[in-house]
Amino acid sequence: MKKKIRKKKRKLNKKGIIAVSVIIILLIIIPLGLWFNTYSKTDKYKLSKIGYNNKEIKIIKSLNKKDVETIKNVNYDKNIPKLITTDKFKKDYFKEYYTYQKSHKTTNEETIFIINNDLDENKEYNEELIKTYLNFSKKAKVSANMAVKLVNNNITDSKIISDIQKEKYYKENNLERYINYYEKTKYDIKTIVRNVNANIDYEYYTNIKDADLSKDNLILVNKYYKLDASYEPDDLVQIEGNMYAKKVTCDAYLKMKKDAEKTGLSFTINSAYRSYSTQESLYNNYANTNGVSWAESFSARPGHSEHQTGLALDITSNSSNFDSFENTKEYEWLTKNAHKYGFILRYKKEYQDITGYHYESWHYRYVGVDVATQIYNESITYEEYYEYYINK
Ligand code: DAL
Ligand code: ZN
Repeated sequence: MKKKIRKKKRKLNKKGIIAVSVIIILLIIIPLGLWFNTYSKTDKYKLSKIGYNNKEIKIIKSLNKKDVETIKNVNYDKNIPKLITTDKFKKDYFKEYYTYQKSHKTTNEETIFIINNDLDENKEYNEELIKTYLNFSKKAKVSANMAVKLVNNNITDSKIISDIQKEKYYKENNLERYINYYEKTKYDIKTIVRNVNANIDYEYYTNIKDADLSKDNLILVNKYYKLDASYEPDDLVQIEGNMYAKKVTCDAYLKMKKDAEKTGLSFTINSAYRSYSTQESLYNNYANTNGVSWAESFSARPGHSEHQTGLALDITSNSSNFDSFENTKEYEWLTKNAHKYGFILRYKKEYQDITGYHYESWHYRYVGVDVATQIYNESITYEEYYEYYINK
């Protein structure tokens, strides 16, 4: 009887073990199956089935979704991850790179260069030319776009280019102009960069743009940047007699004048804000009295005068006129101190070729203390400062 019970118990135990084992197995298999079912639908699984390794998959997955789909539907291509990691690769152009490369067998670099610069064969560019652009871009260390421009204009003297690139105020956007100007004038490289930055390679009053009002106190108005006839600063205040200037100009001037007076000097203002129409009559009077060429070198055409910004002042002393001002103690003081109050001497003797104006010892322009100090230290014109530091 006891034996029978023991046997029954053992039988039950065996059944229990089997049942528990089955449950355990099911508990493992079902989630595993479910997990696999999900995993087998992932990009990672599909890409690895095609033959990509983990590193390549990671690169491919950085693409846009639709491009990953494309790759999942074609055979293993070891070049794809390489293409994606090539310099200047743009994610959004993947399809174009890929299709172009398939039909042209170009290298990754060439493909990217061609597509980034829109140089496909519809535009009459051939493979040889593409290689020339690419090589030139590397050799001369210029962007692809610039290489295309230069090669198309037969400008391939990389010695001149590298000399130009070494210049402190070099701007790549101007490279083509530097070279053309060099070809035309053969000036030294420093002058080439300086003049082109200041637009001097263009005839005066050509290639005129609207002065950028958003630059506020740093606006540039000259023979290439103009103000509308209707432009008038909105915060003009009386500065001296019946003359007006922008408030910043006025405040800076009064402070400067007060400090100079402490050393026994006296300033007087001859002209401050001038409207478009005042400038127009002034210019016309000069032209009628002294001739157009004289007027052009002393007076701005209407819309092109800094006086219309309210940021320029013609300063002389009580004992001098325009011509004699440069021999006064007041002028000497200004040459050393004006920048500390935010003013620059705008039309200097040594920079007449850049400013396009005859030397004016009396014309001061407010730009703020920091900028005036930098211009003073670097000894450059406002044209150069503006084009290099502001209009990047
Ligand atoms: N005299 C300066 C150049 C002007 O007319 O604005
Ligand atoms: Zn002036």
